[in-house]
Amino acid sequence: MKEVVLFLVLLVSVSDAQVTKPNIGNFLECLTNLTNPENPITEALSTPDKSTFVSFYESYTKKKTYSSNPNVTKPIAIVAAKHESHVQATVICSKSNGIQIQLFVRAMPQITYGAKPGDKTIAVKFYAQFLGSVNNLMEIINKNLLELGLKREDCYEMSWLNTTMFWEDYPVGASTIVLLERPSTPLVGFLKNKSDYVKKPIPKEGIENIWETMLKFNDVWMQWNPYGGVMDQIPENATAFPHRRGNLFKILYFATWCKRHATDANLSLMKELYQVTEPYVTSNPREAYLNYRDIDVGSNRSDETSVDEAQIYG
Ligand SMILES: *[C@@H]1O[C@H](CO)[C@@H](O)[C@H](O)[C@H]1NC(C)=O
Ligand SMILES: *[C@@H]1O[C@H](CO)[C@@H](O)[C@H](O)[C@H]1NC(C)=O
Ligand SMILES: *[C@@H]1O[C@H](CO)[C@@H](O)[C@H](O)[C@H]1NC(C)=O
Ligand SMILES: *[C@@H]1O[C@H](CO)[C@@H](O)[C@H](O)[C@H]1NC(C)=O
Ligand SMILES: *[C@@H]1O[C@H](CO)[C@@H](O)[C@H](O)[C@H]1NC(C)=O
Ligand SMILES: *[C@@H]1O[C@H](CO)[C@@H](O)[C@H](O)[C@H]1NC(C)=O
Ligand SMILES: *[C@@H]1O[C@H](CO)[C@@H](O)[C@H](O)[C@H]1NC(C)=O
Repeated sequence: MKEVVLFLVLLVSVSDAQVTKPNIGNFLECLTNLTNPENPITEALSTPDKSTFVSFYESYTKKKTYSSNPNVTKPIAIVAAKHESHVQATVICSKSNGIQIQLFVRAMPQITYGAKPGDKTIAVKFYAQFLGSVNNLMEIINKNLLELGLKREDCYEMSWLNTTMFWEDYPVGASTIVLLERPSTPLVGFLKNKSDYVKKPIPKEGIENIWETMLKFNDVWMQWNPYGGVMDQIPENATAFPHRRGNLFKILYFATWCKRHATDANLSLMKELYQVTEPYVTSNPREAYLNYRDIDVGSNRSDETSVDEAQIYG
């Protein structure tokens, strides 16, 4: 299936969205209907039939050249919003014309401590980024994911630049000046990352086993990053990155500790956690995400890890 992509340019941001059988004519008419002639969207809008399209594409996608290759996916329209009504209209018209704008939701299971000493349990935090207004987000969540219990107070509207701080866990409102800082001293401590891919839902008892093992650690996190969506339309062999169609989500396991003498204990717990999740994740091969740099991947079962041997796996 040929994909068509719409780029929605919000303030400084560029985002792509998935489109299935869009009605382009209706979409454009809807945009005009929902915007005020005082702030005409025509100036902010470009479509492939316009002479401005190539320059819009090159400047907003930061791609050096526009490819005329039909195999390269292209936007059906670029909206370089100049007024908030342009953003609202684009979101509403996309939705009503079968065009879905991406919503990325990450689940983060982690240890949380209770009021009493030694009281600990697992809490799952959800971090999400949606390209649109809180109103539209609430509408989509209330329709499709009511179980999340999302409230307006949980949401912040911010520029794309500020979202880079959100993802780095800075408090909302922190100055973007921190983005210019470089660590002056090396980071201290130790960490171990591992990863997995999940293709079928993990049953409840599996989740319980995972939580119990996590609770044996002091500092451990997981990130469950969603796949599906447009990723599910890309076959494994279509690109150099094979983890696409058929995956529900990717797991990152992440443990940290600060004392050298605690390394063996923490590494062996990570090994235990990895064994506990084995029945619920991909097998033959057990897939992993390359960029989490897990030195166990490709190492011998003998426990004698050698970087030279492992690096043949990339
Ligand atoms: C745009 O507005 C006109 C006039 O109100 C209406 O007839 C038409 O259906 C609207 N089109 C869309 C796509 O909403
Ligand atoms: C586009 O893809 C088709 C099928 O894979 C291929 O035959 C064709 O040569 C490609 N066209 C270009 C311009 O790369
Ligand atoms: C972004 O963060 C800065 C603080 O660094 C704040 O002043 C500004 O209002 C924020 N802008 C948006 C659109 O969230
Ligand atoms: C990918 O694999 C499928 C099924 O084996 C095959 O039909 C298709 O031609 C392959 N595509 C590429 C780009 O290699
Ligand atoms: C991991 O390391 C910490 C020190 O940072 C230590 O207190 C702990 O006992 C170690 N082992 C486990 C299982 O957490
Ligand atoms: C481990 O994962 C964390 C969280 O994504 C990341 O910040 C860090 O760079 C990773 N470390 C390695 C060595 O891959
Ligand atoms: C690891 O396995 C390879 C291939 O089976 C073997 O040649 C190598 O000696 C093994 N290395 C260790 C350290 O076990």
